[in-house]
Amino acid sequence: MVVEAFGGPDVFELRDVPDPVVGPGQVRVGVDHCGVNFTDVRNRRGDGLGRPPMVVGIEVAGRVLEVGEGVERLQVGDAVAALCGGDGYAEQVVTDAARVVRLPADLAGDPVAACVVGVLPSALNLLRHGGRVQPGESMLFHGAAGGVGSVFAQAAKVLGLGPTIGTVGSQSKVDAAQRFGYANVVVRDGFVDSIGGLTEGRGVDVVFDPIGGAVRARSWEALADFGRLVHFGNASHEPEVVPAADALRARGLGYMGYSGGQHAVRDPQTVRSSWLEAVDLVASGRVVIEVTEVFSLADAARAHALFEGGETVGKVVLAP
Ligand SMILES: NC(=O)c1ccc[n+]([C@@H]2O[C@H](COP(=O)([O-])OP(=O)(O)OC[C@H]3O[C@@H](n4cnc5c(N)ncnc54)[C@H](OP(=O)(O)O)[C@@H]3O)[C@@H](O)[C@H]2O)c1
Repeated sequence: MVVEAFGGPDVFELRDVPDPVVGPGQVRVGVDHCGVNFTDVRNRRGDGLGRPPMVVGIEVAGRVLEVGEGVERLQVGDAVAALCGGDGYAEQVVTDAARVVRLPADLAGDPVAACVVGVLPSALNLLRHGGRVQPGESMLFHGAAGGVGSVFAQAAKVLGLGPTIGTVGSQSKVDAAQRFGYANVVVRDGFVDSIGGLTEGRGVDVVFDPIGGAVRARSWEALADFGRLVHFGNASHEPEVVPAADALRARGLGYMGYSGGQHAVRDPQTVRSSWLEAVDLVASGRVVIEVTEVFSLADAARAHALFEGGETVGKVVLAP
């Protein structure tokens, strides 16, 4: 599914291209499923790291078709998932073996497998490294019914953290977010007042914000003194808001960031343990990833239109 120029969902073009060639340290994976992520939207419309002509798609699951020179950990036929960093909306993808994890038999062929190394490691790393959350601290997560949102409160519980309050863009998503394990779910309009009400005016210890713009600007008001705001995305596409240093100093606040994708590029080993942990958590049923829609690869434009329009909950997956 090739993108020749930045633009809306209609820029996707289904095309036959040559099979990708495996280099040393790499594997070629036959893709059963590919998760849809907001990063794909950003790459497609031109505010990510991708440059056309390109194939977007960062998380895949399938079978190893070929191993490159020097790869010993993986064999042809292995069921795997990979955070491949691009090229995923395709029947085959080549990626570094370091970015691939083996899957247990129960997950092989399941659309859920294409989401395991994406959203759940993000949630685990946001809690540990982004927010450095301590037991007993309260949290607020914006976008609680989305992909990362659908596993964030579950991941927090597994780590003995929480309670977590979630925000959603509309009333229609409240039920989904509640199903995903949040202690409270509030509609984002007016969230500062809602948080005040839920915390007796104190605010939360940590806010996780992938939306940016006006939502981020107001999130400082929902923080308790000595709280942290973790930014890890900018779905609103509004200009970044930089907090004033003296305002941070006055209340002892911290501004933190996290990018799992960029860690994976710089040194996959720094995030690899979280991929293995995520496979284990999903395979054992301790965290549930809800795939709410599976589209054929040819339907990527429709999947993106719904996803980008905020009309999806949980995870959306493409099936080449
Ligand atoms: N830094 C990292 O390592 C990392 C890793 C994964 C994801 N992310 C970021 O986390 C966010 C969630 O990613 P995801 O793939 O799981 O997506 P998602 O949450 O399934 O979808 C994005 C959600 O953002 C909300 N949203 C608010 N304003 C929006 C706008 N103007 N346009 C579109 N959506 C808007 C919508 O939820 P409501 O209807 O509730 O508003 C929408 O459902 C994205 O910003 C992504 O870039 C960062």
